[in-house]
Amino acid sequence: MLGALQLGVLAACVVVLVPMGMAGWHLSRNKMLFFSGALFITLAVGVHLTPYFPSVTDFVSTVSSVVVIDNRRTCISLLHDVVWDVTKSPGFSTLNNNSVNYDKSWGWTSSSRVSACEFQKLSRSDASDLLNGSWVVVAGDSQARFIALSLLSLLLDSKDMESIRGDLFKRHSDYQIVVDEIGMRLDFIWAPYTSNLTDLTMGFKRNRNYPDVLVMGSGLWHMLHFTNASDYGVSLQLLRDSVVSLLPISPERGTDGPVAGSVPVRSPHVFWIGMPTLINSMLNTEAKRERMTDAMRGAYDRQLQKSKILRQSGGPLLMLDIESLSWNCGVRCTVDGMHYDVPVYEAAVQIMLNALLIESHQKL
Ligand SMILES: *[C@@H]1O[C@H](CO)[C@@H](O)[C@H](O)[C@H]1NC(C)=O
Ligand SMILES: *[C@@H]1O[C@H](CO)[C@@H](O)[C@H](O)[C@H]1NC(C)=O
Ligand SMILES: *[C@@H]1O[C@H](CO)[C@@H](O)[C@H](O)[C@H]1NC(C)=O
Ligand SMILES: *[C@@H]1O[C@H](CO)[C@@H](O)[C@H](O)[C@H]1NC(C)=O
Repeated sequence: MLGALQLGVLAACVVVLVPMGMAGWHLSRNKMLFFSGALFITLAVGVHLTPYFPSVTDFVSTVSSVVVIDNRRTCISLLHDVVWDVTKSPGFSTLNNNSVNYDKSWGWTSSSRVSACEFQKLSRSDASDLLNGSWVVVAGDSQARFIALSLLSLLLDSKDMESIRGDLFKRHSDYQIVVDEIGMRLDFIWAPYTSNLTDLTMGFKRNRNYPDVLVMGSGLWHMLHFTNASDYGVSLQLLRDSVVSLLPISPERGTDGPVAGSVPVRSPHVFWIGMPTLINSMLNTEAKRERMTDAMRGAYDRQLQKSKILRQSGGPLLMLDIESLSWNCGVRCTVDGMHYDVPVYEAAVQIMLNALLIESHQKL
C-alpha cells in the first residue's frame, strides 16, 4: 500500500508541477500543444491507474484540480495590480505641461501574491513566439484601435510601424496585416457599437472560421449617440449569447459540451476592452461633456456587470480593465479625457498576453 501511495503522490506532483512549472516559460502554439498533450497523457495514465489504488484517487483529483485551477484563477484576478510612475519629462514647463511632457512607466506591484504569479512584460521575441501562427482579431472603437496599435508595436520595429500607424488610423475603417516572420494575421475591425460586434461573431460562426484570439469592446459611441444604458445592456446580452454560442465549451452548457479530456477542442480566447476613465471636464465637445457624465458612465458599467458577459460575472470574456489602468495612470496620461497615452494600452496588451500564457499552460 505504501507503494501505491507513493505512486499517487508522484502522479499528483506531475499533474500539479508540469503546468505550474511552465508558468515562467514562453510557449509557441506548437509547444503549447505538445505540453497539453503531455499533460493529457499524464492525466490519462493517472486516471487509469488510480482505480487500482482507491485511497489515492481523491487525493490526486483534489490536489490537481484545486491547486492548478485556484492558482490560475488567482493570478488572472491579480493581473491588473499595476503601479504607475509618472514624472515630469525634461521638456516640461508650467506652460508646456501636456500629457506628452510626462514620462510614464508601469510595473506589477511587488506584493508577494502578485510576485508569486511571475507576470512578465513580454519582449518582442516572447510575444512572437506566443502568437506564432495565430489569427488575432481586434474589434471595436478607438480604444480597440489603440490596443491593435500597441500589439503591433510590440511585434514590429518602429520603421514598419510608421506606415502601419497611418493606415490603421484612417478614420473608421478596417485594417488587416499579416506579419510574415511569425505567420500571424491581425485584423482590426471598426465596430463602434455592440451590435457590430454581434454581427462579427455571428459571421465567424456562419463561416466556421474562428480567430485564436478575439479582443473587443464598445460603449463610448453608444453613450454619446444613444445615451441609454438599458439599451446598451440589451445589446450586451445579445452579444453574450452570440459569443457563448461560438465557444465549444460555454460556461452555461458545461456538461452538454464536449467532455473534458476527450478530443481537444480549440476555443478562441476572448477579451473585453473596458471603457476608459472619462474625465468630463477634459472631453473635447459640448455633446460629450453633456452626455458622457460620471452618472451615465456608472449606469453603463452596471449594465456591463448585469449582462454577465464578463468572466468575473460568469460569462465568457476576460476583461481588460482600461478604466482601472487609465485611472491609476491619471490625468497626466490623457489630453482629451477619453483617449489615453500609449503606455496605458501597452499595459493592457501585456496583461492580455500574460493571461494567454496562464491559460494556455494550465488549461487541463
Ligand atoms: C499647466 O499649464 C497651465 C497653462 O498652460 C497652467 O495654468 C498650470 O498651472 C500648469 N500646471 C502645472 C502643474 O504646472
Ligand atoms: C514560427 O513557427 C515556425 C514553424 O513552427 C518556425 O519555423 C518559426 O521559426 C517560428 N517563428 C518565430 C518567430 O518563432
Ligand atoms: C454598426 O451598427 C450600426 C447600427 O446597428 C450600423 O448603422 C452601422 O452601419 C454598423 N457599422 C459597421 C461598421 O458595421
Ligand atoms: C432606452 O432603451 C430601451 C430599450 O431599448 C427603450 O425601451 C427605451 O424606450 C429607451 N429610452 C429612451 C429614453 O430612449
